Amino acid sequence: MRLIIQKDYEAASRWAANHIAERIRRFAPTGDRPFVLGLPTGSSPLGIYRELIGLYRGGEISFAQIVSFNMDEYVGLGGDHPQSYRRFMEDNFFSHIDINPANTHVPNGQAQDLGAECRAYEEAITAQGGIELFLGGMGSDGHIAFNEPGSSLHSRTRIKTLALETRAANARFFDGDINKVPGTALTVGIGTIMDAREVLIIVTGRQKARALRAVIEGGVSHWWPLSCLQMHPNAIILCDEEATDELKVRTVNYFRLGMDN
Ligand code: GLP
Repeated sequence: MRLIIQKDYEAASRWAANHIAERIRRFAPTGDRPFVLGLPTGSSPLGIYRELIGLYRGGEISFAQIVSFNMDEYVGLGGDHPQSYRRFMEDNFFSHIDINPANTHVPNGQAQDLGAECRAYEEAITAQGGIELFLGGMGSDGHIAFNEPGSSLHSRTRIKTLALETRAANARFFDGDINKVPGTALTVGIGTIMDAREVLIIVTGRQKARALRAVIEGGVSHWWPLSCLQMHPNAIILCDEEATDELKVRTVNYFRLGMDN
């Protein structure tokens, strides 16, 4: 695993956007061989989406040959609900770039049969040849997508009950009322994320520092789901200086010197 430390949120967002653009360019996707990108919601990726939109507007990158799969969606919220993740993606990214809407996938939290929806989601990813690059964020309890502490490290797309800490953190998007935050979500599993050929996770701010320490300096544990990355052959955690607050000086120096793995 590599840990890339940038000065602040803006610098980290720029780094990530340039990295993604470079990967897409190098892949040289075509209609028959699209670049399959896994995408997150949350406040963490907003800066990356802004930067990617800027690269698109500057003519430096196209998303025409991209197929995307989002990580998760609240159960019960339709794509027109202002807090649904489908709507988030439309508003913050998809409507600003040249991606083909038919190529964007977000789990359907209103599916009649949620189990079948999850199975079909996994099959759709496989049918596209798997995910080339999975971009993600991390919750303050170390969760990834909606894989809360205690999630199986081999899990696949499924329905999950949200932890109280996650619902409390996300209440800010629901008029500050935790009772309005859906109690369940559909989420790709940790196994789904681990199957991606590359994983890039952005972690910024002091409120993530404790989890970042556990994920990097602790062992692999379902209690800190993102620690699964220690087992991934091609993973990057990208953070700002604030997020390193709880790391040992030695850890920070080690990664700053570029001694990755
Ligand atoms: C939600 C999402 C995660 C995201 C996390 C952190 O729980 N399901 O994918 O990583 O929030 O959100 P933020 O980036 O706003 O801190």
